[in-house]
Amino acid sequence: MQLGKPSRTALAAAFHRAAHQVLERGQIFADPLALRILGTDAPTVARQAGENPSGHRMRLFIAVRTRFAEEALAVAIERGVRQVVVLGAGLDTYAYRSPFRDRLRLFEVDHPATQAWKRQLLRDAAIPLPSSLTFVPVDFERETLAERLAAAGFDRTQQTFFTWLGVVPYLNQDAVWSTLAFIASLPNGAHVVFDYSDPPASLSPERRASHEQRARHVAGLGEAWVTYFEAEELHAKLAALGFSEIEDLGPAQFVSRYFPGRASSLPERGGHVIRATTICQHGD
Ligand SMILES: C[S@@+](CC[C@H](N)C(=O)[O-])C[C@H]1O[C@@H](n2cnc3c(N)ncnc32)[C@H](O)[C@@H]1O
Repeated sequence: MQLGKPSRTALAAAFHRAAHQVLERGQIFADPLALRILGTDAPTVARQAGENPSGHRMRLFIAVRTRFAEEALAVAIERGVRQVVVLGAGLDTYAYRSPFRDRLRLFEVDHPATQAWKRQLLRDAAIPLPSSLTFVPVDFERETLAERLAAAGFDRTQQTFFTWLGVVPYLNQDAVWSTLAFIASLPNGAHVVFDYSDPPASLSPERRASHEQRARHVAGLGEAWVTYFEAEELHAKLAALGFSEIEDLGPAQFVSRYFPGRASSLPERGGHVIRATTICQHGD
């Protein structure tokens, strides 16, 4: 992140969500506020997306990770979860459009400069905020999430669902593991969904070249990708922290789940979205 400046990659992710509404009609992930929060319109988004056709893969990945997170969150809400924390929220709109928003205690955590910018965009777009939403400005690499959440009224005794999308690759390992350790330490259990990538060295030459091109681009925005995981190691470390029911969709799994019929063009490795919980759901 550039000092005192809002996240440029948050804007890029929000643009991809808006473009998905226009170009794929929100087929994977419908977000009625995606254009409105950006103060833009469908023709503008279609034209801008057309200028960067290689954004297609990232657009669909962002649609898939958000859909996966919100499906898991809906199941958790059915089972009684009432506290939700959106970590590194960027321009995520879940809090303002969730059908469950009046039943939830919601916290949006983000880097202070990004959050201040988002709050201005929300005001500009006249998007109403639920009364149960609290904004919590936090720099994950310099501040303690637990302390900042506690000061904002977070109830650590409540089962809680954390979404953490598009953030882990930008954080150092200490910030990633201290956040996961905090989530795992909650006494009555928690769920988390986040995304990560396989190490670039393990990608096919073609995938690696396109990854490196994107990596150079985000580094140029002051938001370099610094953290990658091998799935097996990640799962073992999550289990050691107390997480179970780990569901990890790599490229092959999410293509077969969300794009049936496209199996022939599957990349082997790349982005993953993962769900884990410290709550035993089967009574075993
Ligand atoms: C690619 S954006 C993703 C935003 C959003 N979750 C989404 O999916 O659209 C990355 C987000 O991580 C946040 N972020 C990056 N480094 C951070 C840090 N050290 N502390 C807090 N937030 C950080 C940025 O402010 C930004 O909102």
